[in-house]
Amino acid sequence: MRKIIIAMDGHSSCGKSTMAKTLAKKIGYTYIDTGAMYRAVTLFALRKGFIRDNSIDQESLRSELPGIEISFGHDDEGKQFTMLNGENVEREIRGMEVSSHVSPISAIPFVREAMVEQQRAMGSKGAVIMDGRDIGTTVFPNAQLKIFVTASDEIRARRRYDELVSKGENPVYEDVLKNVRERDYIDSHRAVSPLRKADDAIVLDNSHMTYDEQDQWLMEQYLKAVQQ
Ligand code: DC
Repeated sequence: MRKIIIAMDGHSSCGKSTMAKTLAKKIGYTYIDTGAMYRAVTLFALRKGFIRDNSIDQESLRSELPGIEISFGHDDEGKQFTMLNGENVEREIRGMEVSSHVSPISAIPFVREAMVEQQRAMGSKGAVIMDGRDIGTTVFPNAQLKIFVTASDEIRARRRYDELVSKGENPVYEDVLKNVRERDYIDSHRAVSPLRKADDAIVLDNSHMTYDEQDQWLMEQYLKAVQQ
């Protein structure tokens, strides 16, 4: 069967990554979480003190960006984790602190250029599922299968809230909902590569779908795409 590139874009916390990982495992593809890459850059900037009082020291970030190495590792159970300069930062990049600063960091043009270049290199051999916001529009506009995933704000906030609780955090639902809406707004209105559905993407609203239903739906789209 031919090896294709699958671009999965959509709103935050709509379950894209869970779906993408499940399919990748079933069909033996590499899963690439591009949101984790922007999160890792954000963590780096926070640790270096480049983000203060909601303003970003872009010049310092720009000069240190070439020294940031982002990669993915796998634990004994095959679960993927994100590494920043060789350190496993998976837990830290999912917390509220990184979540509340990642959208402005990911709106910076030189940050996007650097990440897109790495993402193209990672996907150059095909057989990848890449999940993000601009994969079908910018990173791989020729991807053979493009999916745009969405769900209602409230359902996405509830999913994110449950995820944070399961990780031992103590979030307030209204704050999580606010963060989801703010990120949607910034992601969709930024000047460079705003979040939008590629013209040839297939939309999936999974607000009222079970995991099994969405996995099955995605498998069907994949099978159709490889047979074309
Ligand atoms: O998928 P996520 O929620 O982990 O993504 C974190 C942030 O990164 C999100 O607010 C938007 C940004 N992002 C982006 O701008 N482009 C991508 N390809 C992936 C994520």
